[in-house]
Amino acid sequence: MYKKVLLFFCYLIISTSVSAQIVGAGRAVDPYEYQVLKTQTFERAAVASAHALASEVGTAIMKQGGNAFDAAIATQLALAVVYPIAGNIGGGGFLLGCKADGELIGIDFRETAPAAASRDMYLDKEGKAQTDWSQNGHLAAGVPGTVAGLFATMPYAKLPFKSLIQPAIDLAEKGFLISANEAQSLNWTMGNFNKYSTRPSAFTSRKEWKAGDTLIQIELAQTLKRIRDKGERGFYAGKTAKLLVAEMKRRNGLISRKDLKAYRAKNRKPLEFTYRGHQIIGFPPPSSGGIILAQTLKMLEPYPLGQYGFQSPEAVQLIVEAERRAYADRATHLGDPDFWEVPQEQLLSDAYLKNRMADFEAGKASISKNIQAGEIRESDQTTHLSIVDAEGNMVAVTTTLNGAYGSKTVVGGAGFLLNNEMDDFSIKPGVANMYGAVGGEANAIAPNKRMLSSMCPALVLKEGKPFIVVGTPGGTTIPTSVLQAILNIIDFNMNPADAINSPKFHHQWLPDLVDIEKDFPQETRKKLEAMGYTFRLRDGIGRTEIIMIGADGKRLSAADKRGEDSVAGF
Ligand code: GLY
Repeated sequence: MYKKVLLFFCYLIISTSVSAQIVGAGRAVDPYEYQVLKTQTFERAAVASAHALASEVGTAIMKQGGNAFDAAIATQLALAVVYPIAGNIGGGGFLLGCKADGELIGIDFRETAPAAASRDMYLDKEGKAQTDWSQNGHLAAGVPGTVAGLFATMPYAKLPFKSLIQPAIDLAEKGFLISANEAQSLNWTMGNFNKYSTRPSAFTSRKEWKAGDTLIQIELAQTLKRIRDKGERGFYAGKTAKLLVAEMKRRNGLISRKDLKAYRAKNRKPLEFTYRGHQIIGFPPPSSGGIILAQTLKMLEPYPLGQYGFQSPEAVQLIVEAERRAYADRATHLGDPDFWEVPQEQLLSDAYLKNRMADFEAGKASISKNIQAGEIRESDQTTHLSIVDAEGNMVAVTTTLNGAYGSKTVVGGAGFLLNNEMDDFSIKPGVANMYGAVGGEANAIAPNKRMLSSMCPALVLKEGKPFIVVGTPGGTTIPTSVLQAILNIIDFNMNPADAINSPKFHHQWLPDLVDIEKDFPQETRKKLEAMGYTFRLRDGIGRTEIIMIGADGKRLSAADKRGEDSVAGF
């Protein structure tokens, strides 16, 4: 429903009579006077994120001498305040970085299942999967990873953590002006905030929100101050942990003090491969994003997509068939690599991928029930930020609560929303999660295991030099949106704004449908229907944030047209 609001999105931010206040980010960010900027070329540094204030905070931090990692920390924290639908400290995500000297960094701060979680915890007495339990309220929440992820990023940052978190504290404490869409989204969720939270919160402090209201989040500001003053322990121990566990106990939640104490972000070796002479860097499991991106690009590489033409029937059919095969593999082979042996090398080998496309027939739709995972011997609410700094460091972070406002449970007294990430596990083989994805043993629930993700922060190098930083929210559509952004630039020669704003399409094996946006070309649709494809119209797919570094070194930045996403830079 939230996505419908975006159709009525108005770029005008209405000012209130409150006098302008400056948040602690180099006197550069005014929470009462800000504008959405969709695309701009910057000389030195840029941020693209889901909210203008967050992009401005990241930029201000770089102006103060911070690098892209500093900006990523500050932007994420700002999003946790100004973009509560997906920005978070109660969720998790993945950071992918490429330092100017070429060093690659992968930080996995995905949530984990609590120690008391069990394989069949979402099955009722009859063995029926109860998706309401995995999607809403206390039982849906995994152990949050975001705060550990921020601190795992600190070794690459230059400024003290205190200066990186202060803008978020100020935004929470002094408030910021909300747009018509944000007001409507909060109003639509009001019933669920009341149903799934046990205490009043900032979101329920008004009966009805309207454009121009100021959202003040005092309890969240206090939590952020504890993190500022005590570091990671300000979240995973002490008062915040006590409040979170008390919240769990008031209903049927499982997260314990021990779970919080035990949580660790992990460094993962980024996945590297080439596509038409470019070096592509993706995130490995427990996200499926990097493997799906690599498999689809490598399956497509032998074909002259550029000659076929953008969204021509030939090009779309090929892309759909590559996606079908990659998602079939996802359902069987991918899960948390600490619990499940992911056959990564085989899944990405040239021979395997060539064989995967061997039964592709131009002009004829494959059928998903005939396509199984390859034989191996042995409310879509997430958010993404892309950053490039003046030194040429690139950072892509995708982070999530899972559904819109996660579990809709606000931790009483601590002011932050908890994720509903447990639904990303396969709660029963063959039962679709909220994104229609099915899975099996590889992604079954187990204590302390990370649930499989689709998040796909991605970096591209051209001739060894930084070229593209890209990523998006969108549940299972994430890897295919990133795929299209990359293809649109490399194969179809688009500029970054066109690459992300052009109509998107998506196929994920099951259901056996091609999802399309309403501006998808009708001629192509008709021709593919004649080949046997079935289409489904969807509201906007993904909200992609991209920065491309031109041959002249300029940062061409674009924020997706589908939301209030915004770029900033200098
Ligand atoms: N919660 C969406 C994802 O991780 O794929």
